[in-house]
Amino acid sequence: SHHEHLSESGQSYKSYATSLQTLSTKKELYEKVFPLYKQPIEVGCFSLDSERRFFNDKRQLRFYTDPGLNPSFDLRDGFKDRYVKRDENVKEKLDHILSALDADVVTWRGHLTKLLTTPYESREGWMFAVSKFRGTVYISEVETEAARRDRENRTERHSEMMYWGYKFEQYMCADDIDCSPDPSGVVNTNEAFCTVVQTRLADHRLLFSGEVDCRVRDLEAPGPPACYVELKTSVEICTPKQRSNFHRFKLLKWWAQSFLPGVPQVVAGFRDHDGVVIKGEYNCWKPTVCMNFCNDFLTFVKQVVSEDNPSVVYLFSWEPHRDVAYTIHRDSQYCFLPEWYRLPRRP
Ligand code: A3P
Ligand code: MG
Ligand code: MG
Repeated sequence: SHHEHLSESGQSYKSYATSLQTLSTKKELYEKVFPLYKQPIEVGCFSLDSERRFFNDKRQLRFYTDPGLNPSFDLRDGFKDRYVKRDENVKEKLDHILSALDADVVTWRGHLTKLLTTPYESREGWMFAVSKFRGTVYISEVETEAARRDRENRTERHSEMMYWGYKFEQYMCADDIDCSPDPSGVVNTNEAFCTVVQTRLADHRLLFSGEVDCRVRDLEAPGPPACYVELKTSVEICTPKQRSNFHRFKLLKWWAQSFLPGVPQVVAGFRDHDGVVIKGEYNCWKPTVCMNFCNDFLTFVKQVVSEDNPSVVYLFSWEPHRDVAYTIHRDSQYCFLPEWYRLPRRP
């Protein structure tokens, strides 16, 4: 007793007589022309300090430093004694970006990255809490049971490997334009510089924020987000299998993360190897599939999320090889728009 909208509207969702609807994530459905994605414009930025305090400025923005041809970075250095890790049990929801800008979808860049890569994801599902408030849809991730288990059972080896990515940033970034990187300091993952960008995906006016690793030193360079640089580490590619995994899975995530806010440059440090710069290289996956899926997901969300009420959460969930489904929760643990934001006057 359901009919598909596919034929008439080109959409990928089904509606059932019972009112329950789902959204397919099959990649074939999204191999359409690339949807309009406006060049993102930075409309603001903010910083989070070593104790995760919010500042409406650039104080945490770091400067990219060319490591030369033969860097020798020991990514393990400081893991035991100069590493302050953000408390991952504290769920910050959207609190840092509820800065009252006019958009019809507000979320984190990282949440959109997950949506973009969904048609190619076969391991990890996701859950997003969505509320509508004064006509704007807010999307905030909810940690799945499986993700929480993985996080709590992370091995020491895996924890150390996570550290390497941050350590690489420390080797590559200077705190000021006229300084050099200082790898003798503490790595503190509470610290962040975040850009806030506004853009449009087809009919969706998006406002999102994402962490930026650093900017180029040249002050004459084009303004944000074009001057921003994303840093990545990856294990050295030695075998054809590693090469194919890198192209199929890792580059997809790197592309999605940086394309969304319009960050043009990704610098990759291959562990135990020289730093190599990579630009927009891809095969096996199609950006159009990612953007079309995201577009259809947002259309699906706007169609489902009808009640304009921050006490109501529509919980969208997805597991690999399934369709996206949702449930509705009133005054539940999933509510995420803070009290101060619901008041008529915001600080
Ligand atoms: P690498 O990805 O270079 O290894 P980002 O690249 O997004 O700026 O994140 C910085 C680092 O945080 C990553 O560096 C990685 O070490 C760690 N990190 C971020 N997200 C992670 C995740 N989902 N799982 C494991 N590590 C993660
Ligand atoms: Mg980063
Ligand atoms: Mg990075």
